[in-house]
Amino acid sequence: MKNILKKAVIPVAGWGTRLLPATKSQPKEMLPIVDKPAVQYVVEEAINSGIEDILFVTGRGKRAIEDYFDYAIELEKELEEKGKTDLLQVVRGISEMVKFFYVRQKIAKGLGDAVFHAKDFVNNEPFGVLLADDIIDSQTPCLKQMEEVFERYHSPVIAVMEVPESETYLYGIVSGERIEHNTYRVNDLVEKPDPAYAPSNLAIVGRYILDSKIFNALQNTLPGKGGEIQLTDAIRDLLQEEEVYAYIFEGNRFDVGEKEGFLKANIAFALKRKDLGEEIKKYIKEITETLD
Ligand code: UTP
Repeated sequence: MKNILKKAVIPVAGWGTRLLPATKSQPKEMLPIVDKPAVQYVVEEAINSGIEDILFVTGRGKRAIEDYFDYAIELEKELEEKGKTDLLQVVRGISEMVKFFYVRQKIAKGLGDAVFHAKDFVNNEPFGVLLADDIIDSQTPCLKQMEEVFERYHSPVIAVMEVPESETYLYGIVSGERIEHNTYRVNDLVEKPDPAYAPSNLAIVGRYILDSKIFNALQNTLPGKGGEIQLTDAIRDLLQEEEVYAYIFEGNRFDVGEKEGFLKANIAFALKRKDLGEEIKKYIKEITETLD
């Protein structure tokens, strides 16, 4: 089957205040989950979903991301001279994964504004948006799962997950009509509703497939919660023009943009590693026993 989704946008211009002080002078997206920066997991998900071009919406203090996906000439020379060919391949491979593009969001005016910066890059094609805060561990990459929904309905798709009703106030929540096992036609989106008023327990996760109609909606979106231009507000406006679908993806999602999720992701990914898993499991057992 021909892949119709070739472009993806990864907005990385946010402040990352939930991980301060670690993010004072380095991008949160570069913090490692075991031995790879968080952003690389998301780039790999995009590539494994058939994406060919990736645009990073960056900002001040995010240069390390560009450097990471660029050649590291001096380091590569050093590794070559020392005969460390395995590491050389790893380091070189990162810069050749896919085509990377960059645009700067000069002021962090919100996720909606960051996505608006992708207008020229997207050029009327459908595109994926992946937030590097959300790492999704799944058999089929989450974006790939969503692509199947997009191909069936030819309309924007938002990834959602079921959360406990008491936690709706932490997420954007969609309400909709169930049309397939894991798929809903969206009626409304509500930003962080109190559990008493939440229309469902379907929480928006950082994966979207959008089309260029979103840019008109974003152009007319006024600053919302926190004075920021919210992507969810623009998607709500889009509902007047076209259908939008919500898809409950299969997989485990880690919110690595906050401390608890960041630590859990490190433990979960370390436990899955052949070279580390056994030792880490043993260590967790040991230290939890001393706590009891
Ligand atoms: P968050 O809401 O997580 O904000 O943004 P943040 O600033 O990154 O982190 P905290 O809340 O201060 O800890 C969601 C995503 O949108 C991007 C962020 O980089 C993140 O991937 N974003 C947010 C932008 O690119 N630009 C913005 O103006 C705001």
